[in-house]
Amino acid sequence: MSNDSSKLELAGKDYDLQVMRGTIGPDVVDIRKLYGQSGAFTFDPGFTSTASCESQLTYIDGGKGVLLHRGYSIEELSEHSSFMEVSYLLLNGELPSADELADFSYTISRHTMLHDQLRGFYQGFRRDAHPMAIMCGVVGALSAFYHDSTDISDPEHRKISSHRLIAKMPTIAAMAYKYSIGQPFLYPDNSLSYTGNFLRMTYGVPAEEYVVNPVVERALDRIFILHADHEQNASTSTVRLAGSSGANPFACIAAGIACLWGPAHGGANEAALNMLREIGTPDKIPHYIERAKDKNDPFRLMGFGHRVYKNYDPRASVMQKTVREVLDELNLDDPVFEVALQLEEMALNDDYFKEKKLFPNVDFYSGIILSAVGFPTEMFTALFALARTVGWVAQWNEMISDPGQKIGRPRQLYTGPTARPYVPVEKR
Ligand code: CMC
Repeated sequence: MSNDSSKLELAGKDYDLQVMRGTIGPDVVDIRKLYGQSGAFTFDPGFTSTASCESQLTYIDGGKGVLLHRGYSIEELSEHSSFMEVSYLLLNGELPSADELADFSYTISRHTMLHDQLRGFYQGFRRDAHPMAIMCGVVGALSAFYHDSTDISDPEHRKISSHRLIAKMPTIAAMAYKYSIGQPFLYPDNSLSYTGNFLRMTYGVPAEEYVVNPVVERALDRIFILHADHEQNASTSTVRLAGSSGANPFACIAAGIACLWGPAHGGANEAALNMLREIGTPDKIPHYIERAKDKNDPFRLMGFGHRVYKNYDPRASVMQKTVREVLDELNLDDPVFEVALQLEEMALNDDYFKEKKLFPNVDFYSGIILSAVGFPTEMFTALFALARTVGWVAQWNEMISDPGQKIGRPRQLYTGPTARPYVPVEKR
């Protein structure tokens, strides 16, 4: 990283600010000393122009529609790699050798079971609880069960808790699903792949043998790869902020899950499929496009638009291809897919969407695949959380290992009342 400097003039005074240069991407003006020198804060709600950290994990060029993990393109990773391999890459910085991958996959498979007392937690939830409510609760509760890996200053503890989180998420998510439909929980089967095991725990029953469909397994594994990490998005920033106070990793990931739940973030996949179903037939599309453009209507095209991508989200193209593979394999002809294709085409040719650079994002097509595989819409965000866990723990590890790491503490522009005397209640 090389440095330059730039000048800022503020109230007639000049300040020298360092410009930091990464290996790729926009330069960053270092304002850390600005408040100390000038007494002024910067104002950036929503962090649209603020780099909150230095990172070597993921790079996005939103203008060009590029997504790289440790330098490898998402297109190549989703075509040739596996979720376990991408997890190793995110955690360790390099693609694993065959032995390293086998060793990593074995280690993860050895942490797939939950402490048996955790099973009791599920009974405390209503049968119709949203899986994300269960995920927040159960993942946070892991802190109460794995005291032997919560010393965040110990790299070995950090490694074990990272492995535990990655390994246990499929078990936790599958149990949330089983609980909602009243079927018995299935223990993990470590002879299966990470994704095959998740499919079995979700769709298998103790009374019958479950055979994993390799096309579905590959498609879901690819969905996991596409969701593995995405730079400093809202939930990742939440994990980093929670972790900056020294909170244990299970609590931090529970915070990330809570943030991911929102419909503007991870909840958009659920909202996108609900929207496509509501549209129902291609003839209704123009009506919904008009609604999305109407400033007086809160409706937005879900699965469209992105804070960073001002071009086609590269994950959405892979997703669209995968929808076809899955529908063909399962011999399904989902009319919602036709609605999605036509909606995309119409929106991309509409001036409003062109001017605002609104393109389909990862969530636009993922719901169609997940629904074809049999997941109810409420499970979609839980699957996103499952896959994003590796990104969260990799980012959390990167932050803890950074010697310059500080507790996150944004400031504000105060616009409330100035100091005034207290008025006793009888005088108000
Ligand atoms: N439909 C209609 N108009 C939109 C949409 C949309 N989906 N997205 C943005 N706009 C308009 C918005 O009304 C605004 O117009 P104006 O400038 O006239 O006020 C302009 O585009 C910029 O929108 P913004 O909300 O200021 O942009 P943002 O960067 O803060 O928000 C977003 C990004 C993803 C929250 C937003 O595009 C959105 O709400 N999309 C729908 C939800 C969605 O699909 N979310 C998934 C994001 S990808 C997965 C993930 O990261 O979790």
